[in-house]
Formats: sequence, C-alpha cells, structure tokens
Amino acid sequence: MTCKADGKYWDPKLETLPASKLQELQLKRLRWTIKHSYDNNEFYRKKLKGANVAPDDIKSLDDIQKIPFLTKDELRIYYPFGLSCVPMDDIMELHASSGTTGKPVVGIYNDNDLDVWTEIMARGLYTNGMRKKDRMQNAYGYGLFTGAHGFEKGAHRIGTLVAPLSSGNTRRQVTLMKDFETTALAATPSFCLYLAEVAKEMGLEPKDDLKLKSGHFGAEAWSEEMRDLIQDTWDIEAFDHYGLTELIGPGVSTECEMHDGLHINADHFYPEVIDSKTGEVLGPNEKGELVFTSLTKQAFPAIRFRTKDLSMLITETCECGRTSPRHARIMGRADDMMKVKGVIVFPSQIEEAVMSVDGVSGNYVIVKSKKGVLTQLKVRAEPVAGTPKERFDKLANEVQQELYSILNMNVPVEIVEVGAIPRSIGKAVRVINE
Ligand code: DLL
Repeated sequence: MTCKADGKYWDPKLETLPASKLQELQLKRLRWTIKHSYDNNEFYRKKLKGANVAPDDIKSLDDIQKIPFLTKDELRIYYPFGLSCVPMDDIMELHASSGTTGKPVVGIYNDNDLDVWTEIMARGLYTNGMRKKDRMQNAYGYGLFTGAHGFEKGAHRIGTLVAPLSSGNTRRQVTLMKDFETTALAATPSFCLYLAEVAKEMGLEPKDDLKLKSGHFGAEAWSEEMRDLIQDTWDIEAFDHYGLTELIGPGVSTECEMHDGLHINADHFYPEVIDSKTGEVLGPNEKGELVFTSLTKQAFPAIRFRTKDLSMLITETCECGRTSPRHARIMGRADDMMKVKGVIVFPSQIEEAVMSVDGVSGNYVIVKSKKGVLTQLKVRAEPVAGTPKERFDKLANEVQQELYSILNMNVPVEIVEVGAIPRSIGKAVRVINE
C-alpha cells in the first residue's frame, strides 16, 4: 500500500472524519465484529448466547453495553488459540505478553490484521512527525514482545530507515546511534534515560554529540515529569504510544504535536471507560478503566476487553485538527493500586513526587513490605550524577515533603549512590517487594 499522506496527516480522510461519520463507521464495523466472532468462535458464541445477545441485536453503539466484558483470565483459559476466529492455516504471525503474572496472552494475526497493524503504526508515527528522511533506532525488544515489530512495520510503511537493534547492548546502541546519525528512537522511556547515562559515561553529551530529534515511547507507565527529564536530557520531542498484546500491540493510540492526550485509532478500536468496581460505563473526563473493542481484527477480535489501565476519555476536538477521540496518559493500572494505612496509592503518584525534585534522577524504586497485615512503603532514589553525598539527606527530605503533599502521608525516602538501582533494558520494574 502506498502512503496517502498529504503533508500533515497520514490518512487525511479518516483522521478528520466528522464525529457522526466516525460513529457510522464504528457501528458498521462493530456489527461485523460481533457477527464474525459469533459465527466463527465457540467461546464468543456461548458468551453472547449466555447474555441473550444475537448479532442482529446490535443496532446502535450503545448496544455494546449488552455484551459482557472480556477479561485477561478468560484469555488465559483459552490459551493459546482459543479465541481464534479464522482457520489456523491463515495465521501468519503471533506475539505474546511476558506472562509474568500468569500464562502469557497470545496475539495472533492473519494477513488482514498485519496490514491493519502496519497502517495504524504508520499513522501514529507520522502523527509524531516521523518522515521518510528519518532514521529510527528500534530499541524495543525483538522476539515475542509486540513492541519492536509494531514500530518496525509502521516505520517501514512510511519509508523510514529502521536500525533493528532490539533492547540491551547499551554501549553499542550509543555508538551506532552516533555512527548511523539516528534521528528517532523507539524504546521504553526508562531505557532511553539509561542510554543517556551510558552516553555520558562514554564521554558523549546526548544533546550535542548525537542527532536524535524524537522519541517514541511506551510499553510502561511514565509521567509528565519523566517526559520533561527525557526531553531536557536529549533535547528531543517525546511522544507517548499506548497499546497491548490483547488488542494488537502498540498502535492503539499516540500523541500529536499538541501532547494533549493520545489520539485513539477509533476506526479500529472502540473505546469505553468504566468504573473498575461496578463496571458502570463512565462519561468523558471521568477517570476509570479503559475497555476496548477491536473493530477490524479478524484472527483475534477482542470484544470489550478490560485493560486494567486507568485513564479517561477526552472528546473535545484537538487543536491539531484530528477528530479522533483521545484518552489521557495512562494514570496507573487498577492492579497496581496499593492501600497503605488506608490511603490509596498509585505508583504514578510516587513517580510524580520523586521526579519533581531537582537533583533526583529518573532511577527510583518503590519498596513494598509487610508488617503484620499492614503494607508499608519506602522509596529509594538516585541523585543526578555528581551530587555530593552531603546533599543526600536534604534531597531525601525534599522528596518526602513532595510525597506528603500528594499523598498526605509520610513515606520514608532513601537517596542511594548513583548506580545502586538496577537499570532495565525493557519494561522498568518500579515496585519491588522486600
Ligand atoms: O507493551 C505494547 C506496546 C509496545 C505499547 C511498545 C507501546 C509501545 P504488552 O506487553 O501487552 O504490550 O503490555 C501492555 O503495558 O496494558 C499497559 O499497562 C502498559 N503500557 C503500554 N503502553 C503504555 C503507555 C505493550 N504508553 C501493557 N503508558 C498495558 C503506560 C503502558 N502504560
């Protein structure tokens, strides 16, 4: 397929569809998805019958609420191919989540699905400003993880050069970034910060000695404060990308130049936000759990999949001119929530506090422990390189005060030597149990 871009938009027609036209398209595709799943998959057929829903009952977008949610636990029961709606022989690629919290989730793709994935990744990267003349270093892990493959497919459709470095090999990444004159980096935000640290150890100043202009970050939670730090360290523009294996991988949503929420590819994914506890559907600007229904996937349609990711929908039109609905940056995961001394705490709140103190670096961990039945928290953070040891206590105090102002609770903070906290090359582990 050739590039339809006219300059600003990758797909001018679809990206600026009036809301009524988008809803028309969504309904047509939703009806197709329900019928396709009902006709071709026993699990979905049973599930829909159990809820007394026949495909023809879906007459409006609101009728989606008649269908029960799909959960990660169900995907595990039907591991690995139980939700397939096409003959096995038509499946051409598969990816899987790491499965750290149980059996992995397997995403399967037929020819159509690979084309959809490529197209929405190209749309997203183009929205970030990526063009044919760019050179993208792909530092997401290649392998079963969806990250690197999605970014590679999208960049290739734009015509961009892709250096498939995968994750790890950090010094080599820096050397090649310099040699190849890389302009765009696709990686987890935590790995991008680690790369800067290693570049400095190698005597290179990321801002001056490397040609990076943009970063395409996702796969893990990160805050506005982390964005500021990355942008300052590298002098680049950082874009948030969101997605998950259950839906397609990266490609569900990303930011435009306004950085005011992530544009959802709503012609391919129908978004809802629900109250995590009651399952009630919430309105725009109300915070809750994101739920998505795929509208065009054939091999593995996801119908009302509960992501556990917390955010809210933004429906005001974006100044960039795109009409797609947006969601706010992911604010945390429903299952990351901790209850400490009766107070609900999300890791994202802790990152916000840690990163707002000048002199503290992006390397930190939240240490969780149990005293009897009570959960206790402690934060361990590194200062920026070169900070004299005498300043450690003062920095710890400042972070503690920030935490107090956000959580209204005392959380002990320890500032440790630079390098004491293990670096991650993929998704960062921010909460550890001790
Ligand atoms: O992480 C897909 C991806 C790859 C997205 C590269 C963006 C870039 P999974 O391994 O299945 O897929 O993990 C999905 O990661 O439910 C979120 O909890 C988290 N996540 C992904 N993107 C973001 C983001 C990929 N931008 C899970 N902000 C999701 C916060 C994110 N969390």
